[in-house]
Amino acid sequence: MKETPPKILMICINRRFRADEPSCAARGSEDIAAAIESGVRKRCIAIEIERSVCMSQCPKGPTIKLVPGGRFILGRTLADVPALLDKLEDLCGLLDEEATPPAHLLGN
Ligand code: FES
Repeated sequence: MKETPPKILMICINRRFRADEPSCAARGSEDIAAAIESGVRKRCIAIEIERSVCMSQCPKGPTIKLVPGGRFILGRTLADVPALLDKLEDLCGLLDEEATPPAHLLGN
């Protein structure tokens, strides 16, 4: 039976200001989120990107989660983004050329 493709990629951008507490933003998740958003938009990958609050995986972050399905992708860096985009394209496919991209992908 074929797995349902994920519809949303959540990226934690939570930042804690105490140096002794880990957080995804302190590990570069905001730059990773921007790179993923840009890559998804350029490639027209059929997935929504949501920047999220803490998902309780802080010591292993940056935390990324595919929804539905609940698979976590942990500890990635900016260097991992091209491979992650390839994986998303395989899992989710591309938007129809005729379809209007979701509003959140149109950018300003
Ligand atoms: S700060 Fe990102 S999972 Fe907690």
